[in-house]
Amino acid sequence: MRSFSRYVALFGAFTLAVIVTPQTAFGAGSREPAGQPAQTLTLYSGRGESLVDPIVRRFEDETGIRVNVRYGGTAELAVLLSEEGSRSPADLFWAQDAGALGAVSDLLAELPERVFAALPDIYRSRAARWVATSGRARVLAYSTDRADPGDVPASVFDLTDRRYAGRVGWAPTNGSFQAFVTAMRVNHGEQATRSWLIGMRENDTVAYRNNTALLEAIGAGEIDFAITNNYYLLRFAANDPNFPVAQSFFGARGDVGNLINVAGIGIPAASGKHDAAIRFVEFLLAEPAQVFFTGEVYEYPVTDRVEPNALLESFSTVLEFSPEIDLDSLEDLEATLALLREVELL
Ligand SMILES: [Fe+2]
Repeated sequence: MRSFSRYVALFGAFTLAVIVTPQTAFGAGSREPAGQPAQTLTLYSGRGESLVDPIVRRFEDETGIRVNVRYGGTAELAVLLSEEGSRSPADLFWAQDAGALGAVSDLLAELPERVFAALPDIYRSRAARWVATSGRARVLAYSTDRADPGDVPASVFDLTDRRYAGRVGWAPTNGSFQAFVTAMRVNHGEQATRSWLIGMRENDTVAYRNNTALLEAIGAGEIDFAITNNYYLLRFAANDPNFPVAQSFFGARGDVGNLINVAGIGIPAASGKHDAAIRFVEFLLAEPAQVFFTGEVYEYPVTDRVEPNALLESFSTVLEFSPEIDLDSLEDLEATLALLREVELL
């Protein structure tokens, strides 16, 4: 529970009044009558309704198993799950990032080995208590008007160079950014991370509230580069094929600026419905759901049986450029937040 207490320390500001939102059922009347509990699953979802709803409906149609979904922030739901402990109604916890899953892994059941069979190692949790459902990568987005591919440096560490002064944006409050900083701490140490953060700040890196705002700022000419997640640009480009932004991995293989993170799912050990819950997990890992993740939301599939969206960098490129990182190590957000506060980014 050590990891959970870290999480509570982080997110303790959320009150349970906020966390305990009304449960959302899919479609009026979709709940099973009492007496058939084995055929109804309760899913805690930190992923958004527009993504989850079509998947849940398809699962219900194919299996006859009902799924009631409680939506919330990934961190909030991790706290709720921990507060509820063995009394939790949750049969599944679908999270936006590996850190949240790591923080509650003590409460999750070990998953059967077959669940991991098609997953590349890069997506595997060592503890086998949750499984990645889709991947996303950190990238450098840049203005196609004011920069070109040759301006993308070898490493995210190079962005403290004077040639980038005042030209780069970041989103310090964003969870993906913080996971990236955690990865930097894990792979490069506290001091190197502190120095980079201070160097970036002193290089007049511009803070924005989130990743969407970063992309908008490049489009509006406020900044020329942004460190962000790979799928935002593709969403902009879907609406405006001429959106004047491109993106790239940093040039050096294994650079922490090219971090992969995952969304993933686990089954609370207290759930009495493991068989049905595992069917849902396997449904997310099967081809139709994986095609949906990459086709509709521009994430990477976690199985090589499904081709990534053609608009994404190829998965072999991702494997080539992403750093080696133990996804279980990303749970240590508390020290990352402390460091971000220390350097006055939060
Ligand atoms: Fe995001």
